[in-house]
Amino acid sequence: MDLLRDPDIDPAPLTGKRVTVLGYGNQGRAQALNLKDSGIDVVVALRGGSGSRVEAEASGLQTALIEQAVSSADVVIMLAPDEIHAALYRAIEPHLRAGAALGFSHGLSVRFDLVSPRPDLDVFLVAPKGPGTALRSLYEEGKGMIALWAVHQNATGNARGIALAYGRAIGCGRAGLIASTFAEEAEADLFNEQAVVWGAVPELLIAGFETLVEGGVAPEVAYLECVGELHLIAELIEARGIAGMREAISNTAELGALLGGKRIIDDAVRQRMKQVLAEVRAGRFADELSAEESSGYARLRRARAEARRTLLERTRERLAGRG
Ligand SMILES: NC(=O)c1ccc[n+]([C@@H]2O[C@H](COP(=O)([O-])OP(=O)(O)OC[C@H]3O[C@@H](n4cnc5c(N)ncnc54)[C@H](OP(=O)(O)O)[C@@H]3O)[C@@H](O)[C@H]2O)c1
Repeated sequence: MDLLRDPDIDPAPLTGKRVTVLGYGNQGRAQALNLKDSGIDVVVALRGGSGSRVEAEASGLQTALIEQAVSSADVVIMLAPDEIHAALYRAIEPHLRAGAALGFSHGLSVRFDLVSPRPDLDVFLVAPKGPGTALRSLYEEGKGMIALWAVHQNATGNARGIALAYGRAIGCGRAGLIASTFAEEAEADLFNEQAVVWGAVPELLIAGFETLVEGGVAPEVAYLECVGELHLIAELIEARGIAGMREAISNTAELGALLGGKRIIDDAVRQRMKQVLAEVRAGRFADELSAEESSGYARLRRARAEARRTLLERTRERLAGRG
């Protein structure tokens, strides 16, 4: 594995360079503030009437309208939602300086051809492996968040140096920058979102809760067992790994896990995981995401409303003293 940390990385490729952060949301806010605190000349690019302008300026950041901020930039980092990258790139392309660098924090839009950058641009990826809130708080604590980095286009010969200096400036070099590719980062991230942490784990918790309730267990007890213990295992795995977590729990829990885990996650599940990976690689999810944006996020809004009404959520509210 090719993992670099601060002492291995030359900060000079960003010295005297202007970085434009396009978007001031989850990642944009964190990356812009970390860049500023690392001494980088940074400007936040926002659309006219953006509600984020006041907050960014109150944090000491310079802001500008998108066209103006892009035309004065040596490096532009795309930190708006992935599904609008295609339209946003079309809008900014005429304003990008010749030989400028264009950065991303997720490989999706380049991997799935939503964005085809002009050939004169350096195109790089620095993808922190966690949310912007944690990227910022770790930086403020003097720590960093591990990230993947990659180069898609090296038009000027400086793309590698700029990518690494950028990763260092947002604090990721303190934890480690791992060499990857746009395709590997995008495919692994989209796979995990569907098949592991963000897609499958919540559905496993819901299925477990509903199975206990249908079996006559009180919803509060089912909730505490199936949902309430999640943070305990997450913390143990973070601190000790999966093997260490198993050693730390009771023999009862360890034997239960040994006998039960592989009955639930069996070959049929692994086959479906392979199917998800194949579909991701074929671009099926990228198409779904674009369609969702075109529909005004109809499916996402419906699913959010339905999830709020479930017995599981009402049980959570009661346990929190709000129901
Ligand atoms: N969220 C994460 O934890 C995370 C982690 C790693 C990587 N990433 C990647 O980081 C990138 C940004 O994700 P995010 O979650 O930070 O996005 P986000 O919070 O949804 O981004 C919101 C920002 O994008 C701006 N924006 C939205 N639509 C726009 C448009 N049509 N024109 C111009 N600006 C627009 C918003 O402008 P206004 O302020 O005007 O509303 C806002 O400043 C993505 O590529 C994502 O995959 C995210």
